Amino acid sequence: MEETNKEFLFKVLVIGDLGVGKTSIIKRYVHQMFSHNYRATIGVDFALKVIPWNEDTLVRLQLWDIAGQERFGNMTRVYYKEAVGAFVVYDITRSSTFEAVMKWKHDIDEKVYLPGGLPLPVVLLANKCDSIGTGEDKMLADHLHSYCKENGFLSWFYTSAKENVNIDEAARFLVGHILSNK
Ligand code: GTP
Ligand code: MG
Repeated sequence: MEETNKEFLFKVLVIGDLGVGKTSIIKRYVHQMFSHNYRATIGVDFALKVIPWNEDTLVRLQLWDIAGQERFGNMTRVYYKEAVGAFVVYDITRSSTFEAVMKWKHDIDEKVYLPGGLPLPVVLLANKCDSIGTGEDKMLADHLHSYCKENGFLSWFYTSAKENVNIDEAARFLVGHILSNK
């Protein structure tokens, strides 16, 4: 019998301002852990998630957890090299982190492209959704929906690293998109 096993290695960036929960999201996704303690990432951290996508496809997702303070440094161009997708994360309890979303998005669009010259697929994560009441959801959801359309984000998800909400879903969505262009 002929085997058609395929393996892919995808480098995906996780960016966004200080303390929005990038490291926590990755820890939850890769190690099924969460901690309330905050230790700022210095520079960049790495994590690998192996995803058995289907019977004949294996995806190795290399997550680049870039420190929020790197927005003020000059290393992002180096970190972004050869990435094929990105998550931009903000903290729904701090509006300044939402304002920074566009800055991060511009930074990627300026510094990295897919091999064909197309912009990177980017998914917005509205993190710490465990911290808001459901009443605000609809308005925020409508706003994020049009915001993504207008600003070239593929999509968005409410996430919570604390309660493990939507992290697998968001990753599946982005990986699915990356695979569909292969
Ligand atoms: P930098 O490394 O400085 O860029 O920050 P970061 O984006 O990696 O943030 P980190 O994951 O370290 O989380 C910052 C703080 O937010 C920590 O105290 C976490 O426990 C908390 N946190 C992260 N995700 C969530 C979440 O989904 N819900 C709640 N309630 N707290 C969260
Ligand atoms: Mg971090």
